[in-house]
Amino acid sequence: MPIEDLFRLIKSFSGNLVALTGAGISADSGIPTFRGKDGLWNKYRPEELATPQAFARNPELVWEWYAWRMKLIFDAEPNPAHKALALMEKAGLLKAVITQNVDNLHERAGSRNVIHLHGRIDEMRCTECGEIVRNEKPPEAIPPRCRCGGMMRPNVVWFGEALPERELGRAVQLCSSNNVIVIGTSAVVYPAASLPVYAKNNGYAVIEVNPDATPLTEMADLSLRERAGRAFEKIYAILKEEVSR
Ligand code: OAD
Repeated sequence: MPIEDLFRLIKSFSGNLVALTGAGISADSGIPTFRGKDGLWNKYRPEELATPQAFARNPELVWEWYAWRMKLIFDAEPNPAHKALALMEKAGLLKAVITQNVDNLHERAGSRNVIHLHGRIDEMRCTECGEIVRNEKPPEAIPPRCRCGGMMRPNVVWFGEALPERELGRAVQLCSSNNVIVIGTSAVVYPAASLPVYAKNNGYAVIEVNPDATPLTEMADLSLRERAGRAFEKIYAILKEEVSR
């Protein structure tokens, strides 16, 4: 399908649209995905780096890994897909971005209504008092300490932990009442992977943008086999022109 047709379809929803994004949308910004050939879970073991048990065992190791990822993310730039979603929101074509990503590229591209299902890597949370602190660069002292003296942890969702209730509730509500465009997720991690099903069950359309097929592909009304950065390049250019007029 030509990209112009994808854009026409997006416009035909008249703003009745939300985006669900995964690591693939940030791949074109140079941030590694989790699964697949060069995926993080191919090189690192999640049980050593991304569980509460791993953190209790070796907070320094976990923090070193998160500090490395923070630097990668802070040094990266939003790509045309992040930027197009931000302009779609500005133009009234998109209500919200629901993301599984812990990076801040949607916000840095200009998206305002971003729901982080798996937390944010630019935040840390005190394991004692619960205070949340925003970071503009990776912490220098590892593991970082709260002003109360407690140890800070990355404010992300680890394996075995529940998703933040408020964010998940908003995501379910939005996906039950809007068309959904799913960009760059392998759709194997739940409950995020079940969100498009809410749209489908309520008579809304599901569009997928991914270079590979996923478990969602069969139920999608349209599956565009394309990299996000490429698929949205043209849409971003058109919107940029329209918004600046
Ligand atoms: P995955 O790494 O599982 O999947 C990335 C998806 O992006 C794959 O389907 C790729 O085909 C696709 N992809 C790769 N390059 C792309 C590109 N340039 N444009 C578009 N798509 C591209 O990442 P997620 O689905 O986000 O959880 O993973 C879900 C969760 O698993 C993550 O949030 C993380 C991980 O464990 C937590 O940390 C809790």
